[in-house]
Amino acid sequence: MTVSIRPLTAADVHQYKRVRDEALRCAPEAFTSDYASSVARPASAYAARFGPPESGHFFLGAFDVAGQLLGCLGCERELLPQQRHSARLVSMMVAPTAQRRGIGQRLLDACIRQAAQVPGLEQLVLTVTASNRHVVRLYERAGFRAWGVLPRAIVVQGVGYDKLHMVRLLPLSPLISP
Ligand SMILES: CC(C)(COP(=O)(O)OP(=O)(O)OC[C@H]1O[C@@H](n2cnc3c(N)ncnc32)[C@H](O)[C@@H]1OP(=O)(O)O)[C@@H](O)C(=O)NCCC(=O)NCCS
Repeated sequence: MTVSIRPLTAADVHQYKRVRDEALRCAPEAFTSDYASSVARPASAYAARFGPPESGHFFLGAFDVAGQLLGCLGCERELLPQQRHSARLVSMMVAPTAQRRGIGQRLLDACIRQAAQVPGLEQLVLTVTASNRHVVRLYERAGFRAWGVLPRAIVVQGVGYDKLHMVRLLPLSPLISP
């Protein structure tokens, strides 16, 4: 399948909402947000998430040849001055019918490359449901390392799920040895 990756813009909000609502419905344990609140949210509410990549506040989308959004991944740079060297990766999702074809890995690699170009950005952090081992491995292969676990971080239909906290240093990080 030919897939192209580009930043999402305000024109993509309806496709983004479709993919997001479906992901939250199919894999509620993978996300902190819940399906019921998400489905009630208007698509226009998401436009503010789609900034220019150089701002460090952006989403990348994977599209098929027909322009259909298949998956996405967001990067949200922290706003406080003492945290602006850090950004959170959020909303990693690929439509169920398009999974296991390398799209998630391509989105992740592209997002890391883009984040490494943002002036002053030193590290990416994320949380992942610890029992989703294949997703944890995907992040580990991209250079993320776990630094802690929050037990019962989310509760979905009465079942508690631990969240693994992970970090990946970018080339600007002073923590990378020369
Ligand atoms: C996580 C997710 C985005 C990965 O997207 P994807 O396009 O399927 O991922 P890829 O095809 O790039 O696969 C990456 C690796 O994960 C493995 N993988 C993907 N889905 C898998 C599954 N359901 N079970 C086991 N392994 C799986 C692939 O085999 C591949 O490993 P490999 O390179 O060793 O073969 C997708 O599964 C998804 O949307 N899941 C639901 C939401 C979610 O969990 N999001 C993460 C929030 S932190």
